[in-house]
Amino acid sequence: MEQISDYLCRYKNYNFVVGSTTAEYIDSLQSFGICDDDVLLVTYPKSGTIWTQQIITSIYELDGGVSVSYANNLERMPWLEYTEGRSDYSLRPSPRLFASHLTPPLMPPGLKEKGKVIYVMRNPKDNIVSYYHFSCVWADLQTPKSFEDFLEQYLSGNVGASCWFDHIREWHAKRDQYNILFLTYEDMILDLKTAVTKICHFLGKDLSEDAIDQIVEKSTFKNMKKDPKANYEFVATERLKGDFMRKGKVGDWKNTFTMAQSERFDQILQERMGDMDLKFIWDTESQQL
Ligand code: PPS
Repeated sequence: MEQISDYLCRYKNYNFVVGSTTAEYIDSLQSFGICDDDVLLVTYPKSGTIWTQQIITSIYELDGGVSVSYANNLERMPWLEYTEGRSDYSLRPSPRLFASHLTPPLMPPGLKEKGKVIYVMRNPKDNIVSYYHFSCVWADLQTPKSFEDFLEQYLSGNVGASCWFDHIREWHAKRDQYNILFLTYEDMILDLKTAVTKICHFLGKDLSEDAIDQIVEKSTFKNMKKDPKANYEFVATERLKGDFMRKGKVGDWKNTFTMAQSERFDQILQERMGDMDLKFIWDTESQQL
């Protein structure tokens, strides 16, 4: 891996956080055996990963009861690409659940034949603001000098998981090659029950109305924030000096972006993604393109 800053290293066109993984391990994913019932939750960072992780783990818990007890959602659904805390995943009881920020070329090729992918996208302005705040509190990331500075880094893809535009485009372009469900953070905010129901159907889980309501209740921002298995407060405070569960809103970008930054971003978004059939919800009052 080529170290490109104190915090980032680059391998196969993708920026990893220094120390999070190794080139050998990323290479080994090319022969990682995928099982029929594997589920991979894929996101660009700060797009709703731990939220969807709570929903998926709750679905499996309610569907099958608890056969193995896990200390928290991270243990139930570990990161595919990171070496920290990794065990021999071939020994893991089925169904195996993983989270990942990787792009399609780095994924196990077997995922095209077997398993399921749930991809969650978030509107990029809220994504940037969430990533900015997270970079201020997560010790493994470079603390941004300012929001303006972070915005430049984000636009140039000089952040962990590289460029948001490329991540979305690559997964969107390859979607027909996978058994994939595309969701957005904003749809989950607007109608969590419909999102949970969609995930259940996609996973082939025929849960009762009552079970779905329980999952929705467990997955609200308010309830997740006080759920020690879900809120990531188990991370050492030297490493995380704030909250994973920060605001959980659509439209918070308006409190951070200046008008000029917003207009510039709109222009770049149009240039880079204008040819794609994507609709973004920028706030929950007026839904717009
Ligand atoms: S990470 O580091 O990539 O795993 O982060 P990720 O989980 O993808 O994103 C964190 C943001 O998701 C918000 N979040 C929620 N929003 C609404 N409802 C629920 N239940 C929920 N759970 C997590 C979290 O607050 C982060 O967004 P911001 O805007 O920073 O609050």
